[in-house]
Amino acid sequence: MTNNKKLTKESIKELINILTLEQKVKLCSGKNLWYLEDFEELGIPGIMVADGPHGLRKQVTEVETLGIADSVPSTCFPTAATLACSWDRELVFEVGNAIGEMCRQEKVSVLLGPGINIKRSPLCGRNFEYYSEDPYLTGEMATAFIKGVQNQGIGTSLKHFAVNNQEYHRMVFDSIIDERTLREIYLTGFEMAVKNAQPWTMMTGYNRINGIFCSDNHRLLTKILREEWGFNGVVMSDWGGTNDRVAGIKAGMDLEMPSSGGAFDDMVKESLENGTLSIDDLNKSIERLLNLVKKSQAQLDGTYLCDMNAHHRLARKAAAESAVLLKNEGNLLPLKKDIHVAIVGDMAKNLRYQGHGSSLINPDRLETAMDEISRFIDREAVTTYAQGYLSGTDKTDTGLLKEAVTTATNADVAIVFVGLPPIFESEGYDREHMAMPANHIELIEEIAAVNDNVVVVLSNGSPIELPWIDKVKSVLETYLGGQASGGAVTDVLFGVVNPSGKLAETFPMNGHDTATYRYFPGESRQVQYREGLYVGYRYFDTVGKEVRFPFGHGLSYTTFEYSNFSLSKAEITDAESVIATVTVTNTGNVAGYEIVQCYVHDLESSVYRPEQELKNFAKVYIQPGESREITMVLDRRSFAFYDVNTADWQVETGEFEIRLGSSSRDIKLRRRLTVTSNFSFTGSPSPDEYRLPLKEHFTISDDAFTELVGQPVPPVDPVYPFHINSTMGEIKDTFFGRIIYKRARKAAFKVWKGEMDDTTKKIIEIGLLGSPLRSLVLLTGGKFSFSEVQGLITILNGRFFKGLGMVLGLIRNK
Ligand code: BGC
Repeated sequence: MTNNKKLTKESIKELINILTLEQKVKLCSGKNLWYLEDFEELGIPGIMVADGPHGLRKQVTEVETLGIADSVPSTCFPTAATLACSWDRELVFEVGNAIGEMCRQEKVSVLLGPGINIKRSPLCGRNFEYYSEDPYLTGEMATAFIKGVQNQGIGTSLKHFAVNNQEYHRMVFDSIIDERTLREIYLTGFEMAVKNAQPWTMMTGYNRINGIFCSDNHRLLTKILREEWGFNGVVMSDWGGTNDRVAGIKAGMDLEMPSSGGAFDDMVKESLENGTLSIDDLNKSIERLLNLVKKSQAQLDGTYLCDMNAHHRLARKAAAESAVLLKNEGNLLPLKKDIHVAIVGDMAKNLRYQGHGSSLINPDRLETAMDEISRFIDREAVTTYAQGYLSGTDKTDTGLLKEAVTTATNADVAIVFVGLPPIFESEGYDREHMAMPANHIELIEEIAAVNDNVVVVLSNGSPIELPWIDKVKSVLETYLGGQASGGAVTDVLFGVVNPSGKLAETFPMNGHDTATYRYFPGESRQVQYREGLYVGYRYFDTVGKEVRFPFGHGLSYTTFEYSNFSLSKAEITDAESVIATVTVTNTGNVAGYEIVQCYVHDLESSVYRPEQELKNFAKVYIQPGESREITMVLDRRSFAFYDVNTADWQVETGEFEIRLGSSSRDIKLRRRLTVTSNFSFTGSPSPDEYRLPLKEHFTISDDAFTELVGQPVPPVDPVYPFHINSTMGEIKDTFFGRIIYKRARKAAFKVWKGEMDDTTKKIIEIGLLGSPLRSLVLLTGGKFSFSEVQGLITILNGRFFKGLGMVLGLIRNK
């Protein structure tokens, strides 16, 4: 019997009394891969959640979690890494709003995103899904996106909470981090989004923080998220990321996803009976879950149809506004329509426009650069094409290379399409280096040897080394621009759109240059965040190290001048805000956007601070010859640091320099400001090694890191004896472990029907090696029980007969 009544505040209270313990426990776990549990007879419908977040990935079949199976065609928008380069709060809101519309159409109540983990290292395989290396920019982008989706009455799931900045050993690694770095770098984006946009749900990270799994972490999920930040939504696990369900409920982790077939139910009931878990904690989760269903109900009735054409146009606009013009010597760009263009490179036809993994969208249409450029330029003009290289390998194909050189030789301009093939970066594994495939580099160099006018168009989800850059005139970074990338690139190359994107992350000269290089991705499942606050430009700008392109960099087809910088006050108390005002003039010939960045530099501090930090920005559209005045507010938090001693944000009395720039290395104007406060620092000074002068190649001693963390670094888990969180990679070298691993591998690959691409194969192979034994229960929908897995572990630990007895006994008892 279905009860069609809508949930209300009162009926939720009533339901909490009516629901049996059994039903409550069931509600705290998914019904299957994408649906929450339902009790239709009680008026509790099962709502659906689905991936994105760069579009909607609503799976048609019920099999897997990594974007392998078919999903409903949807608009594929630029990925988060791309969109962040627009620095455009309104545009990001619009994209979120459109994805929210798509969710309404498909009756998906919660979109699983945005992902906002900080790009600690350019090598994290999943960076294309994240916004920035900077927490403020991350927080602003996430806020806009969440507001956009939720504007449609659809929820979001802000992920992956928290300190989840790598893919290596992704289900078990332990992030060892000091409290100040945690707060200032890794939690700030989440905090801003929670406080300013109230996402309906949060998704926990797979990892541990200082020894405690995110999904069991009371401090993270209750103390910080709910009590400090006022979050009132649902916390769900990442898929298969529940460690200990009882600890999770106590910690405030309301929903286990996906269903583990009731694997934890008995443990939860037993803990309720023996008093180790209180019914109050369970009821709190039930109330939050029912509230989520209540919020979702409005959009479950009726029908909604998206305007897919409008969404595609928006995707094109978003991609064009996010493209970053890295270099443009002699103003080679924009190109004229009536020239002979040689288009070179497989990526011109086979675009790389999105990343692999759970965010993989099935686009409803696809524009290639080749088609769009050919469509755009005059009919009399000559367009020639050569493939240049084979994708999926970095070996040179001499025939293709030769053909490309011939094609480019007599052209007025050669546009070379290169970047990172999918297998180079993906969810599920990290990058090994920052280099492009050798055959892409060779192609650029050979073309540049025969043609002086080379434009390189890059498609990649994260920074790459550009050793060839001096040989070409123009470089356009399109990142992963979504299904309309081809059109967007054409718009920018030919000046229909004046590029305005600015890098949301630094492009280091090479992969060794970052402060995180030595400490990423850690060893033996432990990763030490030794670099502290020195992430991205915070490090490069503090040590003055040369970078390929700085944070915030991006050129335009016009030029801008900054003048009349003033502050509303020369002195404020820490309870006040200050307003920065500046005039920006378009001194060139075409209209365009400028993104003005506001950095704060603390002249003197009791604790170590990076050279400067982004605290606000403004984007403004200006006609040629026109001047626009813009304002940016700097509030208390713009000057504060997280004081570990008082466990709060504090501002010290002193002078600050406010810097306005068009990148972190192109500061145009500066003003001093005095801030006064009653706070006096009584904590411990920062370890010397974190203060200037930092070493060129960043190393931090064990002692300095221990001092920073404030407690001994926990020892790394021993491999033996095996336990529930031992990985397949760890057990596979034992006799029985090899058998388990082989069977699991076979099962993992069996899910796939049809041809599998190399990237997906790699995701599954590496993913499996890093999977803990508990995944046998959690990711098989309960095919195995925890007791059976404990039996296997006993066997693995050398007690064969006891383990076998456990397994057989259980099988017999079934
Ligand atoms: C990913 C999440 C994703 C989930 C569901 C996980 O493996 O880490 O970001 O939302 O799968 O597909």
